[in-house]
Amino acid sequence: MDKKKFYITTPIYYPSGTWHLGTCYTTVICDAIARFKRKQGYDVFYLTGTDEHGLKIEQKAKEAGVTPKEYVDKKVANLKSLWDRLKISYDKFIRTTDDYHEAAVQKIFDKLYNQGDIYKGEYEGYYCVPCETHWTKTQLVDGKCPDCGREVGLAKEECYFFRLSKYQDKLINLLEENEEFLLPKPRRREMINNFLRPGLSDLAVTRSSFTWGVPVTFDPKHVIYVWIDALMNYVTALGYGSEDDSLFRKYWPADVHMMGKEIVRFHSIIWPALLMALDIPLPKKVYGHGWLLMGADKISKSKGNIVDPVELSDKYSVDAVRYYLLREIPFGQDGAYTTRAFLSRLNADLANDLGNLVKRTMAMVTKYNGGEIPVWSGKKENTDEEIIKMAESTLEEVSKNMDELYIPEALQAIFRLAQRANKYIDENAPWILVKDEAKKERLNDVLYVLLECIRVSAVLLEAFLPDTAAKIFSHFNGLSEEEKTFDSIRAFGALKAKSVTEQDAIFMRVDVDKEIEAMEKETAKAAEAVPAETEKKEIISIDDFMKVELRVGKVLEAEKMPKTDKLLVMKVAVGAEVRTIVSGIAKYYTPEEMVGKEVVVVANLAPHAFRGVESQGMLLCADDPEAGVVLISPEKVVASGSEVR
Ligand code: ME8
Ligand code: MG
Repeated sequence: MDKKKFYITTPIYYPSGTWHLGTCYTTVICDAIARFKRKQGYDVFYLTGTDEHGLKIEQKAKEAGVTPKEYVDKKVANLKSLWDRLKISYDKFIRTTDDYHEAAVQKIFDKLYNQGDIYKGEYEGYYCVPCETHWTKTQLVDGKCPDCGREVGLAKEECYFFRLSKYQDKLINLLEENEEFLLPKPRRREMINNFLRPGLSDLAVTRSSFTWGVPVTFDPKHVIYVWIDALMNYVTALGYGSEDDSLFRKYWPADVHMMGKEIVRFHSIIWPALLMALDIPLPKKVYGHGWLLMGADKISKSKGNIVDPVELSDKYSVDAVRYYLLREIPFGQDGAYTTRAFLSRLNADLANDLGNLVKRTMAMVTKYNGGEIPVWSGKKENTDEEIIKMAESTLEEVSKNMDELYIPEALQAIFRLAQRANKYIDENAPWILVKDEAKKERLNDVLYVLLECIRVSAVLLEAFLPDTAAKIFSHFNGLSEEEKTFDSIRAFGALKAKSVTEQDAIFMRVDVDKEIEAMEKETAKAAEAVPAETEKKEIISIDDFMKVELRVGKVLEAEKMPKTDKLLVMKVAVGAEVRTIVSGIAKYYTPEEMVGKEVVVVANLAPHAFRGVESQGMLLCADDPEAGVVLISPEKVVASGSEVR
């Protein structure tokens, strides 16, 4: 019999900017769902990818001095390695610059044009000729160009429109009648009341003011609006619009489109309208999750710090990061990241509930039974009935929660079993049973029940925390693949492995206060070495400014300060003088890059010792939130020692 299919998607990511913990939210959530469905026996297709066209990318590339394609290639490689690191089990990664996607988008656009759903029109707005920029009325400042302050003229730009308005009634019906289409529930009302009821205008779907996009075949000075290009990925990834559309026929419609709430409008209004126009069935569900807010946390404010998912997973493990994202934030709502909440979760659930259960049980089986897994007599005493029932019903509870997309609740159900098992140890006190030869059978049964609960937990956890499940499984010698399946945990007692091996704790408890204190110290040190983000400062007089002696210097030598990855020690010629200058730029410039560079030196700064090396001055740098620290250099070669004013 054919397996039931399940098609789940993340949005495709803009490959611009830096990746942070919030970026990982949608992919980790979808990954847990995809893995869970696979374990349930579904034929799963999990799609993710990148959204690479548009003015924003074109501009970023220009700033970086590379072509748009070079720019996105690098970012995409980074993103893929982040997903690998977080064990994201996607089945396909689509890039909107992939040939097959661009070709399919053009074909779809042609079809919509030929059938009259796209028409040529005029975009009306204001135009500032010197700036070559379009403005809407509300963007103008006192009726003038907000950039240069000059007069603007009324302008009409030729542009193609999609007849979005034509689908208004159908869309209202869709959202009113199908309560499951857009979740969580409040988002439905928001779309209906704020966007659909007030009335939809037709949508401008081409641009001609820049070129980084998919050209319109019949009018190539236009490129297709990036959101139209992007939304199409959900079907082009399956081969829709290409020669081989077998995946499309197999997996479409999507079972879940997952995304952050800020782009629900595109997915619950524009996307269904496009599909209606193309006569393609609609996705079954659109889910708009909340945001992971960062910045409520003091530590997250300094950059390059611990809210970097790579650093966080290096330090505390990939599964600690996955667990936090899946468990801590009520799904559908916003949640603020704090290091304290992250570490507390790690301690309470992973180290205490789960880690201790595994550690204690394996130690007892080793000590009391030579590491052998006892044969279970099947006799039930004390609370056996209760814990066994719980172990047998957890799969169903977790599955029900997963079907409803109650992700944290699904994890809670698993951890309740671990908590119950810990209590079971105390209730049965194996260390007392072991003292009485007559209680040997009871001791064996208690140990078996515990081992079986651990196996059940690991089988259930695998979709959420794959590394942790593998670690737990590895305690059981000769555990078969069969013993890792959902089928094997429906009835208690399927554990057949013969022995266990004790191992190190699967999660280490951390001292939360100490850990936070250490991070704060590190942040403070970094702030001392790297100029902090500037707030607006008070107005000073020219005389005050003139007190600062700025001179052009040339870097003669540079080396890394030992035992830190932040500081460079340089010899800098300032006129006839050679100064030693320590600068917190080592993360951004190698010593080799620095040698020969012309720099701007604050020459009359009081000397300051960094790790015992006295710095005689400071280099001027710009502190860019994305690029990091960027050195200020004279625009042309100037004589060393020249004054800067
Ligand atoms: O919107 N918390 O891409 P994107 C939770 N290219 N989720 C977050 C987050 C945070 N702090 N920051 C980002 C786009 N995300 C378009 C999509 S689809 C046809 C085109 C989530 O890179 C965000 O909500 O801005 C979204 O689900 C995903 O990251 C990609 O966002
Ligand atoms: Mg976004």
